[in-house]
Amino acid sequence: THCILIGAPVDEGQRRPGCLMGPAAYRVAGLASTLAALGHTVEDRGDVAPAPGRDQACANPAVHHLPEIVAWTEALAAAGATAMEDGLPIFLGGDHALALGTLAGVAAHAHAAGRPQFVLWLDAHADFHTLETSVSGNLHGTPMAYAAGRPGFDPFPPFPAPIPAENICMFGIRSVDPAELSALRETEITVNDMRVLDEHGIVAPLRAFLDRVRAAQGLLHVSLDVDFLDPSLAPAVGTTVPGGTTFREAHLVCELLHDSGLMTSLDLVELNPFLDERGRTAKLMVDLVGSLMGRKVFDRPTRSY
Ligand code: ARG
Ligand code: MN
Ligand code: MN
Ligand code: MN
Repeated sequence: THCILIGAPVDEGQRRPGCLMGPAAYRVAGLASTLAALGHTVEDRGDVAPAPGRDQACANPAVHHLPEIVAWTEALAAAGATAMEDGLPIFLGGDHALALGTLAGVAAHAHAAGRPQFVLWLDAHADFHTLETSVSGNLHGTPMAYAAGRPGFDPFPPFPAPIPAENICMFGIRSVDPAELSALRETEITVNDMRVLDEHGIVAPLRAFLDRVRAAQGLLHVSLDVDFLDPSLAPAVGTTVPGGTTFREAHLVCELLHDSGLMTSLDLVELNPFLDERGRTAKLMVDLVGSLMGRKVFDRPTRSY
């Protein structure tokens, strides 16, 4: 696979500075060499630089850094759509507001290619707020709503081809605000919260989703938020929520995704290296990308039990 690294040092989608150091941390932690060792070609396109923000406002006074995030959205959508022509883009975040742009870019590409777009959202949070419903005003809490075509994103470019709810699957969810919850209930989005993973494990629900992607010959965007993981493993994130996935659950998701051969684009988001402990979270994220891209302990098909 031709892997295209795209730095997206977005820091304005929340209030704790540091995510802008994420792309550098992934590079220092050896992302490119990890991919090359697995036999992939790697092209690092450097960090995206957004245009200066234009004057923009919205009715919700809590919302902050709207012009900056709109500019990031436009720049990342363009970079993403272009990269989809050339290989597998891996977006190095940056906070989760970057997914407003990456999802717009990959969805535009899929639409032009006549293929359905699917999204696997690996996160403690649903990020399903509109500009009107956000209580924190942090735009990293909105990308999934934008991509699903919810109204209330007026200052943003119209989402190119809204992703049908049936094509969206969330895993690891354990912190949802009331307005997000009532909006999610009105949709057919699959919300595999931590309770579902505790009861059924991660394998069956993930296989069910991947079977749907395969049957539809869809493109699959994976958005991996650091807080998908339990904070005891991955402390370098501003929005820690207890009760996250374990080391093996996270690797297993990645291994199954690799075996499926279905992933066509990837976000790595919310890493805040300023909060890390000797780079352990950055290294864990790079190791997870290793599993996503084919690293195995023992490379022979498993027996069927
Ligand atoms: N729902 C909360 C909010 O809107 C938390 C969002 C956290 N999102 C994230 N990408 N970490 O502020
Ligand atoms: Mn998130
Ligand atoms: Mn999150
Ligand atoms: Mn955050």
